[in-house]
Amino acid sequence: MEHARPLLEISGLRTSFDTYDGKVRAVDGVDLAVHAGKTLCVVGESGCGKSVTARSILRLVEDPGRIESGTIAWNGHELDGTGESFDILALDPKDKRLGRLRGGEIGMIFQEPAASLLPLRTIGAQLIETLRIHTDLSKKAARAKAIELLDSVGIPDPHRRVDAYPFQLSGGMCQRAMIAIALCANPSLLIADEPTTALDVTTQARILDLIRSLQAEHGMAVMFITHDLGVVAELADEVAVMYLGRVVERAGVEELFADPKHPYTKALLASVPVLGRDRGRDLPTIPGAVPNPLHRPTGCSFHPRCAEAIAGRCDLDDPPEVDFGGGRTAECVLYAPSEDTEGATA
Ligand SMILES: Nc1ncnc2c1ncn2[C@@H]1O[C@H](COP(=O)(O)OP(=O)(O)OP(=O)(O)O)[C@@H](O)[C@H]1O
Ligand SMILES: [Mg+2]
Repeated sequence: MEHARPLLEISGLRTSFDTYDGKVRAVDGVDLAVHAGKTLCVVGESGCGKSVTARSILRLVEDPGRIESGTIAWNGHELDGTGESFDILALDPKDKRLGRLRGGEIGMIFQEPAASLLPLRTIGAQLIETLRIHTDLSKKAARAKAIELLDSVGIPDPHRRVDAYPFQLSGGMCQRAMIAIALCANPSLLIADEPTTALDVTTQARILDLIRSLQAEHGMAVMFITHDLGVVAELADEVAVMYLGRVVERAGVEELFADPKHPYTKALLASVPVLGRDRGRDLPTIPGAVPNPLHRPTGCSFHPRCAEAIAGRCDLDDPPEVDFGGGRTAECVLYAPSEDTEGATA
């Protein structure tokens, strides 16, 4: 595991939605770090706060959502010697640094392609505009680069498609166009939220290869959100497992697969994917459903579904975050010395 200063460091992030029924704590105290040139995979069942975490990084949480507290340190400039680190959450909404992060230093592939492509502008115009804002390419060079990028994400006949509007393209094509836009300014960090779910296996493999080659060429860091454990095994350096708005386990990819600590992680990995064989396989189902975040269980929020829950502790006390060293953590009482045992041995 890395010990160098991370490129991006999220601390104590809380993002919630004020709804008619009450406050939904979508992200409830998340700490995460992405290291330069490395890949962090974020996994967890639907609704655990992965997308809201990703959107919070670029301050793109939509109403009625609100980032309540936390810091998100961007250390890109300090690491490459071009300036100082800053807290993204402390920036004024009009600060130029926020504009440079969005689509420039940080590329983002959204889970919903339709939400991020402008319906009334051609794919090419949107690519060229992003290229012109974040690079010093001429209009002509930007168009050539746009066609090249569309080709590299597997869009057939890119010379023609560059002038197509999103509604003229299939969902999969729109997703590829969005991937091209996210990658076009050679970002130092790519945030990819389920980027390949709508794509066929061949295109998926092609996109993953493209991400890997950009990583090798430019040292791009990646935060990759996925349900696909085969992709995690292939792509991740580090993994963060989320449950109900919290990171419940953090580990290097090999350690995580070889020796999961948190009972939730153990359940997710119930059958370990085999490299190459299990790509496309979804997370196995875990008994019970993710609780409604409006009615969060007391104590450890996983305890009602946990095979190893201890009555009288897990249902009452907030689980401690146990540090195993080397960046490995798990939020679980099983690894914390029990007060009762301590009392007995004293
Ligand atoms: N606009 C909104 N209004 C109210 N609640 C919201 C809104 N957007 C997200 N949430 C809630 O925030 C929580 C986290 O949602 P999020 O989209 O981050 O989950 P996710 O982990 O990305 O799930 P998935 O795997 O399905 O993409 C969920 O309980 C969701 O219902
Ligand atoms: Mg999501």
